[in-house]
Amino acid sequence: MRLDKYLSDMGAGTRSELKKEIRRSGASVDGAVVKDPGFSVQPSSHVVFRGSVVAYEEFVYYMLNKPAGIISASDDDREPTVVDLISEPKRRDLFPVGRLDRDTEGLLLITNDGALSHRLLSPKHHVDKVYYVRVSGILTDSDVDLFRDGLVLTDGLECLPADLEILSVSEDEYTSDAEITIREGKFHQVKRMFSSIGAEVIYLKRLSMGPLTLDPDLEPGEYRRLTSEELESLELQG
Ligand code: URA
Repeated sequence: MRLDKYLSDMGAGTRSELKKEIRRSGASVDGAVVKDPGFSVQPSSHVVFRGSVVAYEEFVYYMLNKPAGIISASDDDREPTVVDLISEPKRRDLFPVGRLDRDTEGLLLITNDGALSHRLLSPKHHVDKVYYVRVSGILTDSDVDLFRDGLVLTDGLECLPADLEILSVSEDEYTSDAEITIREGKFHQVKRMFSSIGAEVIYLKRLSMGPLTLDPDLEPGEYRRLTSEELESLELQG
């Protein structure tokens, strides 16, 4: 790949800024000074730029605890996105794996690995997603049966069987807390499922996606790199 792309991928700046800087000040590639931004480098090349070694990492993986109020997109002209919460020297090719609604919290994987994202999101693979949910309404065992048998939503959408575990019910507040496991990810899926049984979702948080579980040490808005064990478990997925 080109030297300016290598450096831009590693968050050193935009391609146009880098072109100028490389022409002006150069970079060292495998011990030789290079002033051509189009110079061909390999991921394994030894690149020194602005006095520091810049190692090439092809793929990066972050676990984010998405806070409410932020949109699941890579970039947006008007408001910050989940990718903007990653404050490390940022690659330009990051995106969230799937979407959580603006008001949903919890586990979101941010990466630049399109193949992994495709595997996790593909409807063929039925990756389990577990959500903690608070609804307005009283959930009962017959709702558990309805979810297990596969709901048909008011718009005709047939849902795959889902596991509903009722955690607690408050008659006084007229709310119920539950965990729901779904194996698909249609638009507003969880909200629409509860709505079809007459319950409104008032809080929603994703706890896990396939083998990946939200780190309880991450406060909303915080993120960390995936561990190698987490990454391996994801790679085995699908
Ligand atoms: N289902 C929803 O309704 N919203 C989400 O954000 C995720 C799943």
